[in-house]
Amino acid sequence: MKIRFYLISVVLFSNTMLKTNFRKAPAPTVKNLFGNLSVLETERLVLRPMHESDVEDLFEVYSDAEVLRFMPLRLREKIEDIEAKVAWFLKRYEDGKPAPWVIVLKETNKVIGLCGFFHWVERFAYAEIMSLLARDYWGQGIMTEAKQAVITYAFNEMGINRIQSSVYPGNIASLRVNEKLGFKIVGIVPEYAYYKSAYWDRMILSLLKNDFLRLEKENAKSCVDGKVIE
Ligand SMILES: CC(C)(COP(=O)(O)OP(=O)(O)OC[C@H]1O[C@@H](n2cnc3c(N)ncnc32)[C@H](O)[C@@H]1OP(=O)(O)O)[C@@H](O)C(=O)NCCC(=O)NCCS
Repeated sequence: MKIRFYLISVVLFSNTMLKTNFRKAPAPTVKNLFGNLSVLETERLVLRPMHESDVEDLFEVYSDAEVLRFMPLRLREKIEDIEAKVAWFLKRYEDGKPAPWVIVLKETNKVIGLCGFFHWVERFAYAEIMSLLARDYWGQGIMTEAKQAVITYAFNEMGINRIQSSVYPGNIASLRVNEKLGFKIVGIVPEYAYYKSAYWDRMILSLLKNDFLRLEKENAKSCVDGKVIE
C-alpha cells in the first residue's frame, strides 16, 4: 500500500511540478565532425579550426584575468603555455574529440576568441558549448553572432538535438547571450565546481533543436545565419 502511494506521488509530482517528459523519435544520426570542422561565415566573422599560427592572438585572450574571471581556467602568462594549449586543441581535432572554432574578425583577420564544444555525449545527441572573447570586442553582439553559427551547424550538420551551457549566475553577459539565442534555464547547481579557491554555483541552460528552429523561423529577418562556406 505504502509503495503504491509512493509511486502514485512520484508520477503526479513529476507530471505537474517537474514537467518530466519523453518524446518518441527515431534514433538521431550524429556525425563526429570535430576532426574536420567546416569554416563558418557570418556577417562580421569567420569561424574556423584553430591553427598553430593563432598562438599570439590567443595569448591576448588567455592572459586577461577579466576574460577568465568566472571560468575554471588558469591565467596564462607565458606564450609557451598557449603553444601547449593550442597543441592540445589540435590533438583533440586529430582524435575526433570536441574542440572549439576560433573566431576571426573579417575586418582585421585577427583571432579574437573561441566558440564551440568541449564535451559531448554522442549517443545522446547532446553537446556542451563554450565561448571566450577578447575584452576589446565585448558588447558588440559578436558572441551572439558566433554562437548562432555554431548552434546552427551543430543542429543542422552534426545532428545534435540538445545543446547545454553552464554559466556562473553572476556572468550576466553570458546569460544574456544564451537568452538571446533561446536557451532555457534548467536550474542552478549549487557548488557545481571547485576552482580558483572556491566552489562555484552554475546555472544550467539548455537549447533543443526544435525550439531553436521554431525561434529561427519566427526571427527569420533578424537572425544572422551561420553559412557553411568550405
Ligand atoms: C560572455 C561573452 C562571451 C559575451 O560576448 P559578447 O560578444 O560581449 O556578447 P554580446 O555582445 O553578443 O551580448 C552580450 C549581452 O549582454 C549584455 N550585458 C553585458 N554585460 C551586462 C551587464 N553587466 N548587465 C546587463 N547586461 C549586460 C549586453 O548588453 C548584451 O545584451 P544586448 O545585446 O541585449 O544589449 C564575453 O563577455 C566573454 O568572453 N566573457 C568572458 C568569458 C566568458 O565569461 N565566457 C562565457 C563563459 S559561460
